[in-house]
Amino acid sequence: MTNLMLLGPPGAGKGTQAKEIATRHGLIQLSTGDMLRAAVSAGSEIGRHVKEIMAKGELVPDAVVIEIISERMDAPDCKGGVILDGFPRNLVQAAALDKVLEEKKRKLDAVIELKVDDNQLIQRIVGRFTCAKCGEGYHDRFKRPKVRGVCDICQSIEFTRRPDDNADTVNKRLMVYYRETAPLLGYYFCKGTLRSVDGMAPIAEVAKEIDKVLGGTK
Ligand code: AP5
Repeated sequence: MTNLMLLGPPGAGKGTQAKEIATRHGLIQLSTGDMLRAAVSAGSEIGRHVKEIMAKGELVPDAVVIEIISERMDAPDCKGGVILDGFPRNLVQAAALDKVLEEKKRKLDAVIELKVDDNQLIQRIVGRFTCAKCGEGYHDRFKRPKVRGVCDICQSIEFTRRPDDNADTVNKRLMVYYRETAPLLGYYFCKGTLRSVDGMAPIAEVAKEIDKVLGGTK
């Protein structure tokens, strides 16, 4: 069983790489952002509670995401290993994760930091769009569908953009990252699990670098 974490600012490529790794290594992507967006779309109680917070680019309460992740890890499909994408986001969540992993007799094999320049992050986020049907991620410049306007995976012609992917909210999300999430780099460095990867390279190159880290965890 391999348990990984992808750590990096908004737009660093966590979701993109988590999907790549999950497919190739048979791991399950656990994205708190995706789970919360699903709750918002479903109009559930949690969704109604977090909708405004997410739209403003702030962090939702720790207790909400800790419970979501802890429950999701118990599902049978997670037995073979998971990729944490977007969790934890601060030191309280990191300490809670340590506890959850200990209770579930799991360990974190590696924390992979994706390093990307701030200007590039903003370009990536503002140009991002997603297939409305299967969720495949694209970018206006960096990852276009092979046939314009048609999803490579499911051939749908409908795409969506996230409400928090605008220039104003991106700046807020970056501030939140540096204030709340960046201290986790020190936390995992001290635990000896942090590995840094150049997230500025093309998507396939980044994936190869992550594979090298994964090879070293077996
Ligand atoms: P979340 O969904 O986690 O968003 P995020 O951290 O802001 O990260 P993103 O999804 O924006 O970026 P990414 O790193 O996944 O980049 P991607 O691969 O898509 O969180 C959203 C909100 O939910 C938060 O603001 C908060 O409110 C709430 N939330 C979630 N988790 C929480 C938690 N634990 N606690 C509290 N609140 C929480 O790539 C971006 C674009 O770049 C794509 O178009 C892609 O095609 C392109 N791209 C990717 N890699 C490359 C590359 N190497 N070269 C060129 N282009 C690339």
